[in-house]
Amino acid sequence: MSLLTSLKEYLPWIQPPLIINAPMSGIAKKQASRCPGGLGQIGYLDDLHALANELEIVKQSLHESNLNVSKPLPIGLGVIVFGSPLEAWLKLFAKYKPAVAWLSFADTKELQEWTEAIRRCSPETRAWVQLGSVRAAVDVARACRPDALVLQGSDAGGHGHESGASVISLIPEVADALSDHGIDGLPLIAAGGIIDGRGCAAALALGASGVVMGTRFLAAEETSIPAIYRDAIFEASDGGEATARSRVFDEIWGPNLWPETYDGRCLKNKVYEQHRSGVDINQIRAWLFSSMNNPAAERLGPKDMGSIWAGTGVGLVKKQDKAEVIVQGVRSNTHRCLERAYLYMG
Ligand SMILES: Cc1cc2nc3c(=O)[nH]c(=O)nc-3n(C[C@H](O)[C@H](O)[C@H](O)COP(=O)(O)O)c2cc1C
Repeated sequence: MSLLTSLKEYLPWIQPPLIINAPMSGIAKKQASRCPGGLGQIGYLDDLHALANELEIVKQSLHESNLNVSKPLPIGLGVIVFGSPLEAWLKLFAKYKPAVAWLSFADTKELQEWTEAIRRCSPETRAWVQLGSVRAAVDVARACRPDALVLQGSDAGGHGHESGASVISLIPEVADALSDHGIDGLPLIAAGGIIDGRGCAAALALGASGVVMGTRFLAAEETSIPAIYRDAIFEASDGGEATARSRVFDEIWGPNLWPETYDGRCLKNKVYEQHRSGVDINQIRAWLFSSMNNPAAERLGPKDMGSIWAGTGVGLVKKQDKAEVIVQGVRSNTHRCLERAYLYMG
């Protein structure tokens, strides 16, 4: 069976390779309707009224593009599960019926509760779970019977498993572990470090049914980020040097609310450097506050004044484009890379 076959049953418009925009919180909005042949997604917002508004905008935009917006709505909707009010979210799922509920950042028990509740209130919606370890993949696959697993490798921008592996070993090890538990045919989606056709072709070779890109979509014209954020992305190079995983990025403005399992990958900044050299977080906060409020103090760059979430692929992201140009470019480049690999094999 082709890697896409089971996904096509409920995402009939998708074309190979399946390209998905990450549901980046507060950032992925309009682009949900601009992923031709792929899966466009809206990212998590804690203000559910604002999120309903974004869903209306995307629905309207899909109408205008003459796409079939009968239910289910042909997009994914991202939920950061820990700490989110299930009942309020269920109302959104029942009303908009997105084709995919993308669930991430919670333990297996919570994910089970969410997948079961979403399936009851919107049977048209398929539950995908993003996670970043072999153990979590097996536990979630057994408990939640998700419709797909998104395997997030350690190169990924944004939050993820603190002790993660890169997709290059994560995907095959998860596939083998699932098979050992008698779970076959569950689509695996690759996330982390995929920026262009080269990364996408590699993910397909690893056995992925599709790829998710977050950092690459930070360059999309439709992405809701300030120009200074985007410029910092374009300026960064050598992603392993320019970014780091740490929990300090969530501690800058107050206590870290994220569960211990997770840290996040951002552009390195002065907060990170101080934290690395052992400065106490309260001292870092005081320094940051006084630097921001005192024009005579040390000059801070945009990446020092907030956390610029980005993955190790950031050095390959160099220019702004429409989301659909990104999707089409990655798709055709993937074909070329696969042809090249095929020729290599003689
Ligand atoms: C700015 C940013 C925000 C993100 N926000 C979310 C989020 O709200 N929910 C989620 O499940 N993943 C989020 N992610 C992680 C993505 O889902 C995905 O795993 C990651 O972007 C893939 O790696 P890449 O950035 O190298 O493409 C975010 C990533 C970035 C870069």
